[in-house]
Amino acid sequence: MKRRVQPEWLDTLPPDDPGAGRSRRDLRRVNAWMRGHVIMSRALQHAANGDHPKQILDLGAGDGDFLLHVARRLAVSWPVMKAILLDRQQIVTPQTVEVFATLGWRAEVVGGDVFKWARTAADEPVEAVVANLFLHHFSDPQLVGLFRAISRRTRLFVALEPRRGCWPLLCSRLLGCIGCNAVTRHDAVVSVRAGFVGGELSAFWPAADGWQLTERPVWPFSHLFVAQRIR
Ligand SMILES: C[S@@+](CC[C@H](N)C(=O)[O-])C[C@H]1O[C@@H](n2cnc3c(N)ncnc32)[C@H](O)[C@@H]1O
Repeated sequence: MKRRVQPEWLDTLPPDDPGAGRSRRDLRRVNAWMRGHVIMSRALQHAANGDHPKQILDLGAGDGDFLLHVARRLAVSWPVMKAILLDRQQIVTPQTVEVFATLGWRAEVVGGDVFKWARTAADEPVEAVVANLFLHHFSDPQLVGLFRAISRRTRLFVALEPRRGCWPLLCSRLLGCIGCNAVTRHDAVVSVRAGFVGGELSAFWPAADGWQLTERPVWPFSHLFVAQRIR
């Protein structure tokens, strides 16, 4: 299956559109079915190898609920954290920021386009960068540029994306069965077709020299990419 990037409805609907709001809630359920929080927190802990990063930047963080679930899993071993939530749409509620705070994580919400961040934040390194269901929005040349910017700013990057393949595609077509709305059902199929397999993301990383790259499928529907600076 050839990679195909197409517009997603959730990206074009205004944040206060009822269909968009419902789809954001669906996304929480989809993340739970994909076991995204579990996979991401394990990948972060494994890569950190006993070290405790003090800052995490989540690219395309949405309403912040994904990172909040990761925080719930990590807060015992990583009790002090600055969590930066970057998204084009500013939809993180004050309540979500408060829940982060109860875990000891200080959440900072940053509104804006990731490519603007890539162009302007050169002097602001961050210890760890994560992305969930985000990279598949972009074309191959866009990912090359984005990865260059990420590699200049961090020592650890973990991304979890849809795996492109028949099984994820079949399941994305069945999301109506768990009550997902038309926006979610459309975007899920588009996301799988724009997802990744094999070593596709590693090929976009600018300089494999000095970096350890890990890329693999994760059951049931995901594709995991980890880039870790080794010197
Ligand atoms: C599928 S949602 C995933 C949200 C969140 N990571 C999660 O797992 O729930 C993708 C998010 O990427 C954001 N997004 C898409 N293109 C973007 C861009 N160019 N810059 C910043 N955010 C973007 C959208 O607003 C949306 O919230």
